[in-house]
Amino acid sequence: MEARIESAGQARVANDVGGGVAVPADVFRLVVDGVTDYAIFMLDASGHVASWNAGAERIKGYSAREVIGTHFSRFYPEEDAARGKPARALAQAAKDGRFEDEGWRVRKDGSRFWASVVITAIRDEDGALRGFAKVTRDVTERKRAEDERERLLRAQEAVRARDEFLAIASHELKTPITALQLQVQSLLRRAEGPEAEPQQAFAERLEAVLRQANRLTRLIEGFADVVRVNTGALEIRREPLDLADLVRKVVAQRAEELERNRCELLLVAPGPVIGCFDGDRLEQAISSLLGNALKYGAGKPIRVEVRSRGDHAVILVRDEGIGIPREFQARVFDRFARAVSTRHYGGFGLGLWMVVQIVRAHGGSVSLESAPGEGSTFEVDLPRALDGG
Ligand SMILES: Nc1ncnc2c1ncn2[C@@H]1O[C@H](COP(=O)(O)OP(=O)(O)OP(=O)(O)O)[C@@H](O)[C@H]1O
Ligand SMILES: [Mg+2]
Repeated sequence: MEARIESAGQARVANDVGGGVAVPADVFRLVVDGVTDYAIFMLDASGHVASWNAGAERIKGYSAREVIGTHFSRFYPEEDAARGKPARALAQAAKDGRFEDEGWRVRKDGSRFWASVVITAIRDEDGALRGFAKVTRDVTERKRAEDERERLLRAQEAVRARDEFLAIASHELKTPITALQLQVQSLLRRAEGPEAEPQQAFAERLEAVLRQANRLTRLIEGFADVVRVNTGALEIRREPLDLADLVRKVVAQRAEELERNRCELLLVAPGPVIGCFDGDRLEQAISSLLGNALKYGAGKPIRVEVRSRGDHAVILVRDEGIGIPREFQARVFDRFARAVSTRHYGGFGLGLWMVVQIVRAHGGSVSLESAPGEGSTFEVDLPRALDGG
């Protein structure tokens, strides 16, 4: 059996190499035997090793005596062998004539190397499958260099993202701090000056101070959220609640801001929307969507809708503002992604990313419809998880 396959293989290859001029099989065998950079060997039709050259011995560590007659799946890592990778490789080579692969292989001493493999089906004149020729190269060094290059690129990208983040963060943190300082300085001047500040004006300034302090707190909480999501620690604590109530509460929190921007808001909540949700997290998500509608809504009317749809809840936030360019729509949900310049609109590009994290943690989804200059509609779909999730 072995001998037949060998001679079948050699006869064919010899003709190929000679380009029509026959190279005697024993000369060809000497050439193959002498090659040490490539493992070149034959398998019978069922995958048992039928021949072995010096390169195979050098790369894989087995001598011809140890290995001939054993199944070639021993060269694969256990998990690949268990998943049927060796059999699939032969099936593919039998079907297409040739199979190429790169992957980990195991030496006799158990160590792994990254192999570049070509398996060629060998057929006799009648087309019957006689076995396979297998050429394996150890390309671990090349693989290592490629991995290293990739690791470097990733590290450079991480450094770039960090620098960009620090630049935005310092800008964003400075804005409320500057406002805070101005308010406090002015309060101090009044306190030290001859005229006492009237109660009302004094209270208003203090409120402004508080607003800036709250904004700073929100920014810093945003950083903590990123870390939480990255470490997989964003936990959802469900409790039964009425989502319509929650949306009303978020809208009420923004009442002053809406008024300051002379922005109309229509809230459509036809009835209670009962479900099991994380109230704090959803409040954060809805507030972020509403904040965007305010920020990018160009002062035009905003529509917020909340209703049940079967055993789901739907929240809609629509504005008629600047809209989002089509090519950017898929990316606005990415972390730090922004379609506007920092000079015109403050923000980290974390809001929508966090909305998606929160909604996904609830088993829901967020979708967007938008056209530049016409406005944007964000729709959140949440399972109501009435059984408690
Ligand atoms: N309603 C909207 N209309 C137009 N563009 C929007 C709207 N909402 C989001 N965008 C675009 O998507 C980007 C990402 O939004 P996201 O809320 O994640 O970040 P941000 O508002 O820039 O900052 P923040 O982290 O403070 O929320 C925005 O920078 C903006 O370009
Ligand atoms: Mg935002």
